Formats: sequence, structure tokens, C-alpha cells
Amino acid sequence: MKLLHVDSSVLGPHSVSRQVSAAIVDRLRQATPELQIVYRDLALTPLAHLTGSHLAARQGVAPPAELLTDIATGQDVLDEFLAADIVVLGAPMYNFTIPSQLKAWIDRILVAGKTFKYGAQGPQGLAGNKRVIVAISRGGYYGPGTPAEAFEHLETYLRGVFGFIGVAKLEFISADGIQVGPEHREKALAGALQAATKLHAA
Ligand SMILES: Cc1cc2nc3c(=O)[nH]c(=O)nc-3n(C[C@H](O)[C@H](O)[C@H](O)COP(=O)(O)O)c2cc1C
Repeated sequence: MKLLHVDSSVLGPHSVSRQVSAAIVDRLRQATPELQIVYRDLALTPLAHLTGSHLAARQGVAPPAELLTDIATGQDVLDEFLAADIVVLGAPMYNFTIPSQLKAWIDRILVAGKTFKYGAQGPQGLAGNKRVIVAISRGGYYGPGTPAEAFEHLETYLRGVFGFIGVAKLEFISADGIQVGPEHREKALAGALQAATKLHAA
């Protein structure tokens, strides 16, 4: 069984989402020691934005020589995702949504014919065999009825993305109110780390 662990926070050891995603992976590793784990750090090794040449290459047009290495990296990213039975994502909220580093990764895994396709019934997800667990951290509170609810484009976006490619086994562990004050941060982090220990085994 293969697990892909992806982090995207730029805050290194200070990152909340990194601590929570690591706790999720620890929990699953303890429950299933034979898990094969692949790790990708999108802040340390960012992916380039897609260009017209990338899209043309997907249509069979020969890419310029300077793009060959990047296209190979993009293929690795897609292959890692396709091979994974479980995906654990660290996803902080930056400016009301995911970091651009994580968006660049999503741009490499949402590929027609690989993770979704269009048919007579409209779009169809092709990645339904995976379990995806997302560690979210947000500076404020965005729950139902809060003043900032309408600004929540992190969890809602990721639900849309993974739903689009057919992932039904989608779980979130959230640490909220991280920037409200030290007590809020401690409580949120402790709650998320505790929730990680309760996850069902791989
Ligand atoms: C560049 C940047 C933008 C942020 N934007 C928001 C935001 O729009 N809403 C919010 O609630 N918190 C925001 N925050 C706070 C983070 O969501 C919070 O600190 C969270 O813990 C970040 O996750 P991380 O610690 O894993 O990086 C922002 C933080 C940074 C660094």
C-alpha cells in the first residue's frame, strides 16, 4: 500500500499544517508499518506554473528543449498521485485559499484522460480508488454563521477538486483560529493532533 505525503506551507518548522500532516502520516504508519511513503515538499521544491507549451505538449506537440526537465517532473508528480492509495495533504490557508504552490501541484494532477474525463453524462472522475486526508490550518474562523464564512475558499475548493476527480473517501482535519491568539493556536493544534490519532487505519 502506497501513501503520498505532500506539504505546501512556506513556514517550515513553524507550520501548523506540516505538524498535522506529519501526525496523520505517523498514525497511518503505526497502524500499517508496511506502508510505502513518498514525500513531496512543494515549498522546498516548487513546481512551475503551467504554460501554453505544457498544454500543447499534452496534445502531442513537441515541447521546447528547455521545458523537457519540467515536463518530466510533472509526469513524476502525476505518476506519484496515480500510484498512491492514500494521499495526505498539508494545506494552509493563504489569502482565503490554498497556497499557489499547492495550486501548481493540482494543475499537474488534474489531467484529462488520467484523473477525469468527459463523457455523455458530463465529467467523470477517474481517481475514485484513493483515500485523501487533508490537514488544514487557518488563521481565523470560517465555519457556518461566522462573518468570514463567505471567504472560505480552501476546504470548499479542495472538496470541489477531489470530488471532480472522483475521490469519495475525502477527510479533513482542521486547525482553526491559529492567528487569533496563542490560546486559540494551542487549542486548535492540540485538537488537530488528537484527531490525527483517531484516524482509521490505512
Ligand atoms: C501569506 C499568508 C496569508 C494568510 N492568509 C490568511 C487568510 O486569508 N485567512 C486566514 O484565516 N489566515 C491566513 N493566514 C494565516 C494562516 O492561515 C495560518 O497562520 C495557518 O496556520 C498557516 O498554515 P501553516 O502554519 O501550515 O503555514 C495567512 C498566512 C500567511 C503566511
